[in-house]
Amino acid sequence: MQVGRGLSLATLRNVPMFERVPDTELEHLARVACYRKVPRGTTIVRAGDSTDSFYILISGSIKVLNSDEEGREVILAILGAGEFFGEMGVIDGSPRSADVLAIEPCELLVIAKPDFRRMLTEHADVALYLMRSLVQRLREADRKIESLALMDVFGRVANLLLEFSEVQEGRRIVTRKLTKQDIAKMIGASREMVSRVMKDLETSGYIEIQDGRIVLNET
Ligand code: CMP
Repeated sequence: MQVGRGLSLATLRNVPMFERVPDTELEHLARVACYRKVPRGTTIVRAGDSTDSFYILISGSIKVLNSDEEGREVILAILGAGEFFGEMGVIDGSPRSADVLAIEPCELLVIAKPDFRRMLTEHADVALYLMRSLVQRLREADRKIESLALMDVFGRVANLLLEFSEVQEGRRIVTRKLTKQDIAKMIGASREMVSRVMKDLETSGYIEIQDGRIVLNET
């Protein structure tokens, strides 16, 4: 069923955050929320802008990044289908904390600030889901701080590959497409250094590249 502005109830039901929200509320959400499709390379949210909406990724993936005046970038996170962004400004009213850039064509669910705030106050499950996700992001940020402070580039690359991997058919595989440049921007190293470390990891048998994907070996 297609409800309101191009959003079907089934699409909303597939969003993990709304798993326990009743149909009547989802029908209302389908009427007030917007569906947006953006091509790869679109800046969806810009650091410093005022905050008016909350976003859920229906498909595609985005990166959250910050840059300095010289154009140097740090990637804070890469998010995929089912995940959300823009909650920070919606919760505390501050301007956007980072840029959010589409790294693939993306389908988005855009919910205006007052509508999302109302959902948070009326549906404890949605608020709890949001809190759990924020705790998870804090844990990831803590791990990142720890690796930046205590590990060399070799350890940071290995840590990141582990973080982005999952077990498929008994093998640990990095499921997201990560370029060396992306890895460098996530761990605060140069692309050249990351290339060198990846080569070392491959020569030592810790990783293999298969069909363009990185496979982690247990050695
Ligand atoms: P907001 O500050 O409104 O806009 C930028 C968004 O990037 C922010 O909300 C979060 O949704 C997202 N973001 C910022 N930092 C991180 C992070 N460390 N991990 C995941 N998402 C983040």
